[in-house]
Amino acid sequence: MPSFEFEREHADYDMLERQVASLLEDERDFIANAANFSALVYTMLPLVNWAGFYFPDEDGLVLGPFGGKPACTRLPKGKGVCNRSFEHAESVIVEDVNAFPGHIACDSASRSELVVPLLSGGLVYGVFDIDSPVPGRFTEADRRGVERLVAQFMKATPVPERYGSVRKSGSRINERIDVQTCRDHHVVLRYLAEDLGNAAPRPKVAQALLARVRTVLVRHLKLEDDCLYPRLQNSSNEILRGKAERYRTEMGGLRRQFSELWNRWSADGAIAADVAGFHQEWLSFQTALLARIDSEDSDLYVAVDAELA
Ligand code: SME
Repeated sequence: MPSFEFEREHADYDMLERQVASLLEDERDFIANAANFSALVYTMLPLVNWAGFYFPDEDGLVLGPFGGKPACTRLPKGKGVCNRSFEHAESVIVEDVNAFPGHIACDSASRSELVVPLLSGGLVYGVFDIDSPVPGRFTEADRRGVERLVAQFMKATPVPERYGSVRKSGSRINERIDVQTCRDHHVVLRYLAEDLGNAAPRPKVAQALLARVRTVLVRHLKLEDDCLYPRLQNSSNEILRGKAERYRTEMGGLRRQFSELWNRWSADGAIAADVAGFHQEWLSFQTALLARIDSEDSDLYVAVDAELA
């Protein structure tokens, strides 16, 4: 198939990278960027009949923005090429989809497939899937090229919380990244907490800061619950296991305290109606939060770092 060989040789990933950059540079909206990214790859890569995103959901992966014919909405956990890529957090090339056990056929015209995981900060947020009507369409050069584009997309576009994330399985480098991300959350929480303590007399600012604290805190607790604690619970180091269990249990009180605070003060006008009441309650939470952050930084994370060194 000479024309195919010619076109494949000339998939120009440097040019695609420039196009992705200009497409995403002024926009941070996730759906808009994911839709345009899929459309660009679908249109510009030769011999492709589908290109799009799948994101994790309770029972597997669910369809995101794409270019091409309508596709399977849900891919049940453990089945198919996309789940393989997602679960192993690595790219998968399938030369012949009919020979891949469990392959999920959304379009009978598809004959080969390349799936690249969406990675950021040691977490997997979903996959980007490309199908071709030509067997053996995707080479190692395509894998490297699409991985570069996907990394570019992930850098330009923060993934909203609702799309969830799971820890990238495996290596110690990623474990260290998780701890580093937890420390980064702490730095942000310290600044926000202090600003919020000072902003109580300005209810509108305080309300906005409270919402930001919640966003970072939710992300942070999710990372600890999904990644850090499960890993520490399986550690062969008994002292570390005990420490992790103690920290995890103790966190319950602080979680409850924040959720009560949020329920009471997050509604429009709630802080303005009782500035002094909010200030007092916030300061009590702030003291507990900062003490917790200090002790995680100087004790729990230090122990984790020592174990992973
Ligand atoms: N073939 C994929 C399903 C997604 S469609 O190709 C768009 C799989 O086996 O996971």
